[in-house]
Amino acid sequence: MAPQKLAAGNWKMNGTLASLAEIDRLIADHPTPGCDVLICPPATLIHAMAARAGTALAVGGQDCHAKASGAHTGDIAAAELKDAGASHVILGHSERRTDHHETDAEVLAKSQAAHEAGLIAVICVGETEAQRDAGQTLDVIAAQLAGSVPDGARAANTVIAYEPVWAIGTGRTPTNDQIAEVHARMRALLTARFADGADMALLYGGSVKPGNAAEIFAIPHVNGALVGGASLKAVDFGPIVAAL
Ligand code: G3P
Repeated sequence: MAPQKLAAGNWKMNGTLASLAEIDRLIADHPTPGCDVLICPPATLIHAMAARAGTALAVGGQDCHAKASGAHTGDIAAAELKDAGASHVILGHSERRTDHHETDAEVLAKSQAAHEAGLIAVICVGETEAQRDAGQTLDVIAAQLAGSVPDGARAANTVIAYEPVWAIGTGRTPTNDQIAEVHARMRALLTARFADGADMALLYGGSVKPGNAAEIFAIPHVNGALVGGASLKAVDFGPIVAAL
């Protein structure tokens, strides 16, 4: 079984009910028979988006709590995301690792909670520019995978997204060789650790645009993309989906 192709959009802290019109456009203009399409909007939009999209695309959260319920004001449990219509949840995004000081151990615990709730965890890893300049990229990725991905991960419940921190929202992307090197290493590490690691979908994220998507998707072990800014408008995200 080859990894499932996935075009994922991370809307981050962008979007109101009016933004759901973009979903209508995406579905109408860009049928997606060959891959899965996922949009992770702000939590306030999950229920409405899932109801509106039906089976045309999957909807996900951008974070969940490690606990199943309780006194955690402002947090969202994985089961609550699922109840609202989510099938996936992004975990360990670099913006959360930075803004909320999330550690690998916390990302691992959240991923376990996601799995227990029946969600697919989209677990993010990626090096900073300083780490790349210091030649530490592959070690950083290996450590994040080892620390963030739980033993219960399987191809059916886990997607890994490689997002170099310095490429997010900057318009800069790694060279194809740099992406290939990291994805090959991730594939080797996952295959060594998990029985079906060869089938786990590996996404690239960081300044993916309509103009560079096809080239990135042609890189070995790149099974799709996690897209930020270019996922907000159907006119941008549609061609990325079509390129997959
Ligand atoms: O999670 C996706 C994201 O971090 C990439 O953002 O805007 O560079 O596509 P962007």
